[in-house]
Amino acid sequence: MPRKINIAVLGATGLVGRTFLRILEERHFPVGELRALASERSEGKLVPFGAGEIPVHAVREDSFDGADFALIAVDDSVSREWAPKAARAGAVVVDKSGAWRMDPSVPLVVPEVNPDDAFEHDGIIAGPNCSTIQLVVALAPIHRVNPITRIIVDSYQAVSGTGSAAVEELKAQNRAIVKGEHYEIDVYPHQIALNVLPHIGSFSDNGYCSEEIKLVNETRKILHSPDMAISATTVRVPVEVGHSEAVHIELTHPMTAAEVRDLLRAAPGVAVVDDPSGSQYPLPLDAAGRDEVFVGRIRNDISHPHGIAMWIVSDNLRKGAALNAVQVAELLMARGALPSKQRG
Ligand SMILES: NC(=O)c1ccc[n+]([C@@H]2O[C@H](COP(=O)([O-])OP(=O)(O)OC[C@H]3O[C@@H](n4cnc5c(N)ncnc54)[C@H](OP(=O)(O)O)[C@@H]3O)[C@@H](O)[C@H]2O)c1
Repeated sequence: MPRKINIAVLGATGLVGRTFLRILEERHFPVGELRALASERSEGKLVPFGAGEIPVHAVREDSFDGADFALIAVDDSVSREWAPKAARAGAVVVDKSGAWRMDPSVPLVVPEVNPDDAFEHDGIIAGPNCSTIQLVVALAPIHRVNPITRIIVDSYQAVSGTGSAAVEELKAQNRAIVKGEHYEIDVYPHQIALNVLPHIGSFSDNGYCSEEIKLVNETRKILHSPDMAISATTVRVPVEVGHSEAVHIELTHPMTAAEVRDLLRAAPGVAVVDDPSGSQYPLPLDAAGRDEVFVGRIRNDISHPHGIAMWIVSDNLRKGAALNAVQVAELLMARGALPSKQRG
């Protein structure tokens, strides 16, 4: 019988943390001891797991003792504090924050794209930003056969990408607007209900915001293409779950839209939904709760002889976050690379 795997989930009360628990259950992950960890605010709360609920504990110095994997979904500063402690306790950390992604000693892994990188870790493996994951899952199969020389990506990102407070704010604004009542603007710099905000993260001197820079740098790292030309505009939209991306790529050689469609139909983790005449294309409402990266509107770019345009949609909490991390753990287990205890 395969041995049971002890898991600590840090951030278990959050949107991604709760999705970790759901996915572990759905995929029949061989969970042994399961520890749900969060801040002191959550001590004693319960979170759903399987048919029941498990208690949440405030994270402490000994919280990761005996854990095989630490699945971490907290803010960058909290991860910087706890991920090294979890790794030193012997757990393999799979971290969903932005704290470790660009650290040269930390692999940044999407199992469908760069699985071998996962084995080069020293205790911490990073999961990319949600908008990066769906982009590389859809583009890597093309890049492998016909190298991409340039990517332009414009995103339409759901509020759940910001965390639970943003989902509550969108719902509260929607309710208040319907009733004609006053509402708060707190999480974002502007009202998000009935609006579109071309601003995710903080702005740099070059005019790009941090989410755009993450898309550029993370995509280059995962595709092992440090000089690839990439530009992004990231936009927050009043959608609860599911990020969408309008993507234009330039290829080394010309390719037809039909060839790209065939490649993507055979690609792991990708579902092609592409019948525009029947109004069939990926939608966030359809992608929410699903595991695939959906691709449609695949067409030859009329502005470039080697160009392809497409529309990519995925559930940011699942493939964009928790599912990708659980797949990393499954990948290590499948290749017999179970965590070795007491690192460092
Ligand atoms: N949402 C997405 O689509 C997505 C996708 C990819 C990556 N991420 C990243 O994943 C991380 C979590 O995102 P989220 O959307 O799940 O956020 P969230 O819903 O706001 O949840 C945040 C979690 O962090 C915990 N936490 C906060 N301060 C803590 C502390 N001092 N010590 C221990 N735990 C603490 C919270 O616990 P309490 O309830 O006790 O406060 C909660 O469990 C972020 O780094 C985010 O950038 C999110």
